[in-house]
Amino acid sequence: MTVDGELARTRASYDATADLYAQSVGTEISESIEAALDRLLLDNVASLFSDGGRVGDLGCGPGRVSAFLAGHGVDVVGIDLSIRMLEVGRRAHPHLCFAAGDLAALPLADHSLDGAVCWYSIIHTAPDRLGRVFDELARVLAPGGYLLLAFQAGNGEARHRSDVRGTAVALTNYLHDPDDVVRSLTGAGFLVASRVVRDPELAHESSPQAFVEARLRSFAEASQALGVVVHDD
Ligand SMILES: C[S@@+](CC[C@H](N)C(=O)[O-])C[C@H]1O[C@@H](n2cnc3c(N)ncnc32)[C@H](O)[C@@H]1O
Repeated sequence: MTVDGELARTRASYDATADLYAQSVGTEISESIEAALDRLLLDNVASLFSDGGRVGDLGCGPGRVSAFLAGHGVDVVGIDLSIRMLEVGRRAHPHLCFAAGDLAALPLADHSLDGAVCWYSIIHTAPDRLGRVFDELARVLAPGGYLLLAFQAGNGEARHRSDVRGTAVALTNYLHDPDDVVRSLTGAGFLVASRVVRDPELAHESSPQAFVEARLRSFAEASQALGVVVHDD
């Protein structure tokens, strides 16, 4: 299947199930969907940016992370592939800013974000396409910018779904290997700060859950990595 074909199928699948998603997952971060560790990581993002800095909730769905961060005073923009998911998000959170876009071609200017969260949104990107997504995140983040990823962990295997509660879909979930994710991030210029994999513990979880925090190299760090001497004067 071509990449465009897979993207179109992902978009159509979420368009068809956006209301079902909001009914089952909700439009807010919640204890039934996020374990204590997950909420701690989101609390950390809120505390990093509640005093300033723009954060992208990339692959925002109905805006659960956007609403959580905005509730803590964070300036946040939610971006998603699915127009129907965005409509659900706008209905639930009319005060928030949403836009349509692909993780690999974001409608954002270079270095325009101080932080980014991809909360279970890289799960539909094939492992061999992750580098392209991380290059795009590196383009839109400011040097030193913060990134948090959440995804189901595995060995990069694909799981296909053709039905969500009676609605036909064509959705592929990739269970990314955390080591591969870290390698791809490093290749895109990120410094990985933490990587946590927890056991499945919530009713809807059937695989380990991975969380990776990274920081885009600053200009000086990037220059040093390339062996370029940077003078401050
Ligand atoms: C499992 S949902 C998670 C949504 C939201 N982050 C949450 O936690 O509720 C995955 C979301 O990622 C979006 N998505 C998948 N691939 C994407 C891509 N390449 N670019 C932008 N959004 C994407 C889907 O449209 C969907 O809304």
